[in-house]
Amino acid sequence: MPRRGRRATDYPEPVTSLLRILRFAPELNPLYLGIAVSAMLRAMLALATPFLIGAATDRIVDAIAGRSTVAEAVTAVTWLAAAFLAVELAATAVVSVGGYWGDVMAARMRTLLSARYFDHLLHLPQRYFDTEITGRITNRLNRSITELTQFLNFFANNAFTMLLTTVAVLVISGTYWWPLAVLLAVVFPVYMWLTAKTSSRWQVWEGEKNTEIDIASGRFTEVVSQMPVVRAYNRQDTELAGFHERFGRTIGLTRAQSRWWHSMDAARRVALNVIFAVLYLLVFVRTAQGEFSVGDMVILLQLMNMAREPIFSMSYLVDSAQRAVAGSRDYFAVLSEEREEDLHARPAVVPADARTGDDAPAVRFRDVHFAYGDGEEVLSGIDFAIGRGEKVALVGESGGGKSTITNLLMGLYPVTSGRIEVFGQDVAAQDLAELRARVAAVFQEPHLFSGTVRENIAYADPDASDERVRAAARAAYADRFVSEFPDGYEQLIGERGLRLSGGQRQRIAVARAVLKDAPVLILDEATSSLDTKSERLVQTALDELMVGRSSLIVAHRLSTIASVDRIVTLRKGRVQEVGTPAELAVSGGIYSQLLELQQAGTKQARKLLKEYGISG
Ligand SMILES: Nc1ncnc2c1ncn2[C@@H]1O[C@H](COP(=O)(O)OP(=O)(O)OP(=O)(O)O)[C@@H](O)[C@H]1O
Ligand SMILES: [Mg+2]
Repeated sequence: MPRRGRRATDYPEPVTSLLRILRFAPELNPLYLGIAVSAMLRAMLALATPFLIGAATDRIVDAIAGRSTVAEAVTAVTWLAAAFLAVELAATAVVSVGGYWGDVMAARMRTLLSARYFDHLLHLPQRYFDTEITGRITNRLNRSITELTQFLNFFANNAFTMLLTTVAVLVISGTYWWPLAVLLAVVFPVYMWLTAKTSSRWQVWEGEKNTEIDIASGRFTEVVSQMPVVRAYNRQDTELAGFHERFGRTIGLTRAQSRWWHSMDAARRVALNVIFAVLYLLVFVRTAQGEFSVGDMVILLQLMNMAREPIFSMSYLVDSAQRAVAGSRDYFAVLSEEREEDLHARPAVVPADARTGDDAPAVRFRDVHFAYGDGEEVLSGIDFAIGRGEKVALVGESGGGKSTITNLLMGLYPVTSGRIEVFGQDVAAQDLAELRARVAAVFQEPHLFSGTVRENIAYADPDASDERVRAAARAAYADRFVSEFPDGYEQLIGERGLRLSGGQRQRIAVARAVLKDAPVLILDEATSSLDTKSERLVQTALDELMVGRSSLIVAHRLSTIASVDRIVTLRKGRVQEVGTPAELAVSGGIYSQLLELQQAGTKQARKLLKEYGISG
């Protein structure tokens, strides 16, 4: 899909990109070879047919002219017919085997390309997903891969046959009479040039169409996954209208594109028709003049016909090659995005007072600055530590950067400057998988996967025993409601867990983190969807869970916050205070203000508390 605004030189050359695809999957080389050989055999077998028919024609003409007996001619043509049958049978066998290999090659290619793409997406930095739309990612993948696979299959099946047929036809017709070969030889480059010219302009329209379709599909996926919102706001008609408009534009584009294509195609065909008419005329005239026998004429006419086929498939080849190049551009553009490991790895600058031994705190932020992409700084000089076994709460207004701090701790985004240490090791310099193995998180939005309750709880360890799954569920106070499901732990919960209530989803998410059993625990509003009673129960369980672990808690109840070891308050992206709840209660900072507001209990106070996500 050509994207305007980018220079063509940003992209690999067509040939390099195609070679890249071939090199991409060297394990498929034997299959390519098999397909190419079968294609060549097919071409050679096809070349035998004109000669068999030509020979038969000459025998019959001889018999009619009285140069041989009818019986002799019949015997000869019987043998020729048998040979014809043998050739056709062999061709059928070769075509079938080649077709089978082609299918297998296409399936393996598709698997390889898709898996490579998915593998890469799984390792792209979180930033990539903040700016891309799911539906577009999948749509583009499908198109790129379909076009690449189709081209490779077509290429392997036809390129060699075409080449072989073309050369053979040229040589053979040249041995009969050289002007025939010259005329035929002119046809190929002219035709190819016209096709390439047609196709490159055609591709621009195709790119515009694909952009429209990608946008519409991206929206489509979003709408389908947020149907209740669409319904609640009565936006079905407008969503449909937008979708329709995008697709509607493809009709206009298709008109222009198709007009161009078919007028160019008509011109090409006319040129070809003229050349072939001249060729036929030459053959007829020379036969009439006695230069060629009738048999020769039959052979030549069939060879001319055989030459037409590769010319027409050549246009398809050029066309599908250009599509494949466009598709591979999108494909390789994604693949050339840097993986998070590569972006992430940077040499550790070890501060003088860094400790890596057993006395290092579980988590330490040192003068951390951070901005999402090119946006404004969200965190400016964050400094705090969580000791081993300590519970630390983050308090700050909505949008103040609490979830951002938890994201950084999991290495989802690289810090702009400063340093985060987990057990004394720089997050930016350690293996991401190792880092994440040490941290269990309950996210602010507890998205689950379609599948069963069990699969979701055991996401960290699919081989976990039923006992462990149940124990995790019990700790999250989920065992009770799960057991009441008709299918218990095997209950299907729908895409993203949509068949559960908000509170149930949250408790499954807590159970998922419990089962992970990591030394650092992040709870970002882990109990916000629960009523006071359930929350207290889950909180008790979490308190037990937090024993011996180091926890970072973002909570919406002052009562929860009061039970932590230390509180870190944030204001405008900076740490305002750090201290025990008792210290901060009287310090005059955010926390003490919140406590005062809660005591006041006025409407105004409740409103202010809301801004801090505090509900009681
Ligand atoms: N993925 C993102 N890309 C760009 N900006 C973001 C992203 N996530 C958050 N932000 C911005 O960063 C700021 C901090 O957001 P963050 O989610 O950390 O706030 P928070 O303190 O967790 O708020 P809340 O209490 O409402 O959950 C906000 O201004 C938000 O708009
Ligand atoms: Mg948040």
